[in-house]
Amino acid sequence: MDRREFLLSGVAALVISGPAAAQMQDHSKHGMDMPGMSHGDGKMAAPGPLPTLPEGAPLRDLPRLANQASEPGRFEAELTAKPAIVRFAEGIDTPILAYEGETPGPLIEVTEGDKVAIRFANRLPGEETTIHWHGMPVPAEQDGNPMDPVVSGADRLYAFELPEGSAGSYWYHPHPHGRTAEQVYLGLAGAFIIKPRQDPIPAAYGDTPLFFTDLRLAADGSIPANTMADLMNGRVGDHVLVNGQKKPVLTLPAGSRRRFRLFNATNARFLRLTFGTAAITLIGSDGGLLEAPVTGLRAIDLVPAERAEVIVAFEQPGRVVLRTEDVDRGWMGPGRPDTAAELMTIEVTQERAEPAPPLPARLRRIADLGPPVATRRLEFTETMSMGEGGMKMGFLINGAAFDMGRVDVVTKAGQTELWEIANLADMDHPFHLHGTQFQLVETERDGRVSKAPYRAWKDTINVARGQTVRLLVRQDQPGLRMYHCHILEHEQLGMMGVAEVRA
Ligand code: C2O
Ligand code: CU
Ligand code: CU
Repeated sequence: MDRREFLLSGVAALVISGPAAAQMQDHSKHGMDMPGMSHGDGKMAAPGPLPTLPEGAPLRDLPRLANQASEPGRFEAELTAKPAIVRFAEGIDTPILAYEGETPGPLIEVTEGDKVAIRFANRLPGEETTIHWHGMPVPAEQDGNPMDPVVSGADRLYAFELPEGSAGSYWYHPHPHGRTAEQVYLGLAGAFIIKPRQDPIPAAYGDTPLFFTDLRLAADGSIPANTMADLMNGRVGDHVLVNGQKKPVLTLPAGSRRRFRLFNATNARFLRLTFGTAAITLIGSDGGLLEAPVTGLRAIDLVPAERAEVIVAFEQPGRVVLRTEDVDRGWMGPGRPDTAAELMTIEVTQERAEPAPPLPARLRRIADLGPPVATRRLEFTETMSMGEGGMKMGFLINGAAFDMGRVDVVTKAGQTELWEIANLADMDHPFHLHGTQFQLVETERDGRVSKAPYRAWKDTINVARGQTVRLLVRQDQPGLRMYHCHILEHEQLGMMGVAEVRA
């Protein structure tokens, strides 16, 4: 029987490999529920009706991390991670982990060229953490790798300088060994925006971050631990929140054009975003603006950890709903959730907006990385094998599970390489590489090759089941860099490797 049939047969005696087992022990150590072995829903510990979340409040601005620096060109701040109690549902307390007491964490906004110094305090009881600056060109030793943990009670300074050309929409999240998935779904994630010195996008379009997170609440208001189904498929929650709110409302005058920065900060939810029937213009990807706007799109696909910048025109008065469509990205076992949801409402009023200036036809130039001088191939596989006590699951890259003490790829700073990522598994796996932005060259499926339609800086890209993607990669700074599937449960179960970039 293959693994699909095995899972569908409902056999409960499923044992998973080392890291996952440790993860489950961790849960009991942290006083959380043990995952249900036979239920896929993870709510068995707290029976009763599930809390409902209030909807329809005005969209809030993300809170900001205040800059304490007195000179221009610097950003200095303190950031603390610690447990907090929040109220997602009326009258029900939810214990979370939070940066500065909030989820999502405060928006960090800096300008290209800034010197950033953030003093981080880990006040999570009994667990180590790190802050990873997802997608940003920071030195390896400042990037919050699992090899550089900040132990419970300790402080550390993260310091880096953000070069010209790095303007874009990034995010920060923990990256400790074996606890990243939990720390993120318990609340630790925030947006990090690097503004350009000169912005080609008209200021009249505004600039609104929409930071998507995925919440699951048990009947008692707690955030339940991962179940077996979550570990295998990645955790999909019950409520997609926008800036921490369920279905907020944004009110705009008719004729408005808005710039949105979209962040998928969920553990494992694939988003396919639509703004009713409004056409979407894509202007930016993970690493900042495109060379030219891409007009006339109906939907934006955003896999976990991906970002996009878009312009949407709201011409007529009425109601526009920002939705995410259902995405089938492969699922093991029964109970694939329907992932369609309404995320936000835009109320377009009768009042007319001032006519907005047009979007420029050219946004910026994106460097040509030149011909690759080396080629590498990474293969994603999922395995199930009989071990002592039952089946063992593995999420592997080139046949191996993550080992912090092993270097998987050795590369040279400044050298352009072709990375070929082949997904030989049954689920889609979003590939992410630290330390740099790469460019998609082409994708291949069943022998059919599609060239990338435009040049864009990316740090996270979906590799659909059965698909191969080819990327141009150049690392400019030496050190150890992680690459992994950004379904955080898969990363945690081993789908991660280490690249050593030599000077
Ligand atoms: Cu967003 Cu290695 O992570
Ligand atoms: Cu990253
Ligand atoms: Cu994966």
